[in-house]
Amino acid sequence: MNKQAKLTLVGAGPGDPELITLKGIRALKEADVVLYDALANEELLEYAKNAEKIFVGKRRGMHKFIQEKIQDLIVEHASQGKHVVRLKGGDPFIFGRGSEELKFVVAKGIEIDIVPGVTSAIAAPASFGISLTQRGVNESFRVITGTRSDLKLSEDVEAAANSNVTIVILMGMSKIEKIVNTFIEKGKINIPVAIIENGTKKEERLAVGTIGTILNIVNEKKLSNPAIIVIGETVKESEVLYSQLLIQKGKTR
Ligand SMILES: C[S@@+](CC[C@H](N)C(=O)[O-])C[C@H]1O[C@@H](n2cnc3c(N)ncnc32)[C@H](O)[C@@H]1O
Repeated sequence: MNKQAKLTLVGAGPGDPELITLKGIRALKEADVVLYDALANEELLEYAKNAEKIFVGKRRGMHKFIQEKIQDLIVEHASQGKHVVRLKGGDPFIFGRGSEELKFVVAKGIEIDIVPGVTSAIAAPASFGISLTQRGVNESFRVITGTRSDLKLSEDVEAAANSNVTIVILMGMSKIEKIVNTFIEKGKINIPVAIIENGTKKEERLAVGTIGTILNIVNEKKLSNPAIIVIGETVKESEVLYSQLLIQKGKTR
């Protein structure tokens, strides 16, 4: 048993198992228990040779672990003097409920540590050469969720459609039609759009179009979650890079 009882929240990165940090790997090696999500690449569990591994995500045919149950599990194990690693996809603080879990265990008097991760919001577009900022093209980018916790369309989608910044939408595929319509209502039918499905994983796919064409492309290619939607002129400006990378990766767009 590890001498130090604590929770280390570790960002697993976007999918490619080489996109975890060295510090994340060290935490996994030192773990007594690893609680991991569906988005964390299971290959990473090989680093946690001596740990008990508990899957707490949502998977076909299985119920989603409710948040309270995960928090109870963390406290239960840490209270036994164990080093618990909570492994979450991407960066745990980006739509990952990482801070909720930490606050819960801090309230129980348990020590915490945080290992940031590479978020899919930036890494998935980057892996296809889509640069979220480009000099002379845009001055900022905004990362939003498409779906709120009550499963409704986020009101930030409309605010985003009113602006000229590059928009990166997570958890947006089930709302893609509503998102597209929101942009069309603002007269933005020709704005370039990219969708990166399973970014940085072997099965990654890229689709590129405009607000006006992307729905047909999504249906034709049957694109679904996990996917990142990028909306903005920077997508078009990245064409040379993603075209080259698609050739190198042996993929079509
Ligand atoms: C609950 S959020 C977690 C985000 C995570 N904390 C991060 O920083 O990447 C889940 C959403 O992230 C996006 N996502 C996560 N991994 C992805 C990947 N490899 N490729 C594309 N989208 C991904 C999808 O939009 C997915 O629905």
